[in-house]
Amino acid sequence: MSTIVMSGCATGIGAATRQALEAAGHKIIGIDIRDAEVIADLSSAAGRQQAIAAALEQCAGTLDGIVLCAGLGPQTKVVGNVVSVNYFGATELMDAFLPALKQGYQPAAVVISSVASAHLPFEKNPLAPALEAGDEAGARAIVENAGEQGGNLAYAGSKNALTVAVRKRAADWGKAGVRLNTIAPGATETPLLQAGLQDPRYGESIAKFVPPLGRRAEPAEMASVIAFLMSPGAAYVHGAQIVIDGGIDAMMRPTEF
Ligand code: NAI
Repeated sequence: MSTIVMSGCATGIGAATRQALEAAGHKIIGIDIRDAEVIADLSSAAGRQQAIAAALEQCAGTLDGIVLCAGLGPQTKVVGNVVSVNYFGATELMDAFLPALKQGYQPAAVVISSVASAHLPFEKNPLAPALEAGDEAGARAIVENAGEQGGNLAYAGSKNALTVAVRKRAADWGKAGVRLNTIAPGATETPLLQAGLQDPRYGESIAKFVPPLGRRAEPAEMASVIAFLMSPGAAYVHGAQIVIDGGIDAMMRPTEF
């Protein structure tokens, strides 16, 4: 049995992933705002520090894996929280858990990004400089002053910078023997997606985004790929972003990959 810290395990993709990993015999230490071993709010630096300290105590400083699912959608009322949870809620946890992962057996990490990470190129991502500099207040101010499109900017900008943050860590994590990958889900039937569909600003565009496979994904269809990435079968997969979107990306951008 291995010990895995997961964020965002209460609902949606995280809950399905927790189920899959537990079925495979892993012990999960969940971090979430509710229904988890560690209750913490990842939208603040203090909440993140509390989550890290409590999880490290529960695993006694040794981890075999982390899966970071916690995230907020573009429809979130306080748009700054989208940046804080999606970007800092993942990058700060990744970095803080690396020493514990180095002590683990065949350690691996999966970070949940999004197909939205490819909607905004890094060079044109207005949040990128602030996020890379660790300037949480600055990044929050940009999205909070962006008007009606602030939610989309916060979501696509934070997920783009998150995928880049993972890729930039591939060299160091690889040398440390810890595999690190992202998945980029397309529309998946979760509470986050339902909230987006019900939002008058974003609902229509989300609804008309129909992938070639003709339906949205089920959370279990993300969980099975995450479980594979965490398994020895994925021993040579490192620094990759696995797109799981029913073919949307191939349809929209056939020449870019
Ligand atoms: P969800 O809303 O069902 O799950 C999000 C989880 O994060 C919940 O357990 C929630 O309690 C937790 N969370 C939210 N705010 C938190 C906070 N401040 N502190 C601690 N935990 C917090 O949504 P879903 O769809 O399962 O999302 C999981 C990940 O997948 C997110 O990172 C999301 O951006 C990503 N994603 C989802 C897509 C979709 O269509 N559902 C598409 C692409 C990416």
